[in-house]
Amino acid sequence: MAKLWAGRFQKETDLVVNDFNSSILFDCRLYQEDITGSIAHATMLGKQGIIEQHEADKIVEGLKGILADIDEGKVQFSLEYEDIHMNIEQLLTERIGDAGKRLHTARSRNDQVALDMRMYCKKEIREIIDLICGFLDALMKKSRENLDAVMPGYTHLQRAQPTTFAHYMMAYANMLKRDVTRLQDCLERMDEMPLGSGALASTTYPIDRQFVCDQLGFARVTDNSIDGVSDRDYCVELCSDLSILMMHLSRLSEEIISWCSWEFKFVELDDAYSTGSSIMPQKKNPDVCELIRGKTGRVYGSLTTMLTVLKGLPLAYNKDMQEDKEAVFGAIDTVKQCLEVFTPMFATMTLRRDNMRRAASGGFINATDCADYLTKKGMPFRDAYKTVGRLVNQCIKSEETLETLTLKDFAAISKSFGDDVYDALDLRTCVGERKVIGGPAPEEVTRQIDKIERFVAEVREQEAHA
Ligand code: ARG
Repeated sequence: MAKLWAGRFQKETDLVVNDFNSSILFDCRLYQEDITGSIAHATMLGKQGIIEQHEADKIVEGLKGILADIDEGKVQFSLEYEDIHMNIEQLLTERIGDAGKRLHTARSRNDQVALDMRMYCKKEIREIIDLICGFLDALMKKSRENLDAVMPGYTHLQRAQPTTFAHYMMAYANMLKRDVTRLQDCLERMDEMPLGSGALASTTYPIDRQFVCDQLGFARVTDNSIDGVSDRDYCVELCSDLSILMMHLSRLSEEIISWCSWEFKFVELDDAYSTGSSIMPQKKNPDVCELIRGKTGRVYGSLTTMLTVLKGLPLAYNKDMQEDKEAVFGAIDTVKQCLEVFTPMFATMTLRRDNMRRAASGGFINATDCADYLTKKGMPFRDAYKTVGRLVNQCIKSEETLETLTLKDFAAISKSFGDDVYDALDLRTCVGERKVIGGPAPEEVTRQIDKIERFVAEVREQEAHA
């Protein structure tokens, strides 16, 4: 089969090289972007009189037919034509004859592939943002239902201070909010139209880049043709943003895995989102969370791939850049798959509030509050800290908790204790009194949830008008 670039060559490409060089097996997913981009390009060529209007019309007609046929699964791509760009051009020429050969006027595959990738990434970022918003909905719903679900907060995985499940989940909501804004930021920066860069030094034809830009809904055109074809910063940035997102999902997965264990039993996953063991009948395993934690490695791998592929590349296009596809596609696919399963798994998860509360009652989680109580009675905090330390030590020896000590026990250590100490040690008070901005008091967490809710509504509003 003759290659589109056959003129210069006297031998056919070796079959091994053919397979090695070809990207059609993975870049075929760019067919919509490729065809949409070509339609805009051909329309512009016709409008500028670079090709005859009737030829432009024929090309657009032909491309629309090809798009419909690919959508219906009627098209078989060929390794011989290397990539999606040449497969479609070849198909077009087979269908409409000579006019098809004019499509590639004033264009190179280098600016073509740069265009396709940007269009594809823009579309996928929007879908990922939408999936994150769906997950935020689930986080907010669970938080509203559990504003008063007291649980221990940890440092060093040691029980530290009391918090609530709602407060805890809103920490994750804030991380995911940052993921959304990072992706929006990345999208804003990549929103530049590279077509017209040509192979690298643009073109002598009187093309209208702004027209193509407007047709394809880009914010602006790229400002330098060498950069236009060499830049894959947006791929690096996207993989980086997705890596951070996966890191967040992985941290939450890790928490849920611990909370499902018999040692914690803070939550129970729905049967539909957990798995059993082939040998141990008692097991109910959080495989979904473990897979999300594990798949995080793939996305980090994509980021490493992108950075490494680019680090030694001279300008402009080098074939190494074809390696961006599988890295970026893999990261996008993994993230979408993880979010699609995480959201319903999380939404159907039930809480064992009794166990959370019990865990919060042990471990002297209110020791800070006890010290604060003494401080409010006039004792310097450092002295109060030591006094409560002695009390805790005493409790450990006698297997008691602060709440079970008698007033006499308290008074023996410090005269400052009164019978209002029991109220101060009550976990509801400990949580309820932490009303400062950012704290776990139910009314404060409600404010935090309302804020995230407004954020999600704004994101959806912007999306509806995009
Ligand atoms: N399949 C190629 C890629 O993904 C398209 C660009 C090819 N350009 C070239 N000069 N060989 O990078």
